[in-house]
Amino acid sequence: MAAHPLESATSRRILITAGPTHEPIDAVRYLGNRSSGRLGIALAEEAAERGNEVILLLGPTHRLPEDSRVRVLRFQTTAELEGLLREHFGWCEVLVMAAAVADYRIKGAATVGRGEGKIRREGQGMTLALEPTPDLLAACGEQRRPDQFVVGFALEPRQEMDASARRKLERKRVDMIVANPLETMDSATIEARLYLRDGSVLDGGNPMDKAAFAGWLLDRIAACQSSADSRMSRVS
Ligand code: CTP
Repeated sequence: MAAHPLESATSRRILITAGPTHEPIDAVRYLGNRSSGRLGIALAEEAAERGNEVILLLGPTHRLPEDSRVRVLRFQTTAELEGLLREHFGWCEVLVMAAAVADYRIKGAATVGRGEGKIRREGQGMTLALEPTPDLLAACGEQRRPDQFVVGFALEPRQEMDASARRKLERKRVDMIVANPLETMDSATIEARLYLRDGSVLDGGNPMDKAAFAGWLLDRIAACQSSADSRMSRVS
């Protein structure tokens, strides 16, 4: 039987993270961002359609993948996503870290849990003390096995995209950074550029529908992996 045109030659175990994090302030309020999870969900659906095994770690968003082959695990906070990555990163051959992870959370929230009680209004202003969250992608970059391919994202003002993507590629020890301008967040389209470890840059061109972009990105990841596989087999 002819292979499905979208099916890749080898099926992979792909772990994708998507959506925002919500960092609780108290029992009813949180610090969040405008990520919709749309791109990560499109990637998960396209990867499953191609015959890969897919786990999607999905933050607080109303969207869900329609493809029942995608295994979905939910998180709210950076600490919960950290726990899920600890559990599932070892399983995957490819990690695509599309989640918009908070850079800061309320000080002490990770240890006290989902804020209890409700902060009451008082006459004066109030100050929230924040602490940095752990960099989950950098931790994965550090622990990765040589056979794992790790993709990070960089959402940046257009004029800073290039320098910042190159810095993140090094600092987080990943194989690829998908850099896109700030306007991409919560939008139906994406205009991205891929930065690779060998210094090359691939341009996605004009703004693409996120589903079309998902296919294009998976093709690029597969191409990088097959050239890495053939390098490894030449060495052994
Ligand atoms: N990321 C992460 N853990 C964090 C923050 C970000 O794993 N605490 C991941 C995101 O999922 C994304 C990549 O790192 O794949 C880049 O995220 P970004 O917020 O653009 O970068 P930062 O590391 O936060 O750097 P900066 O604030 O300087 O842009």
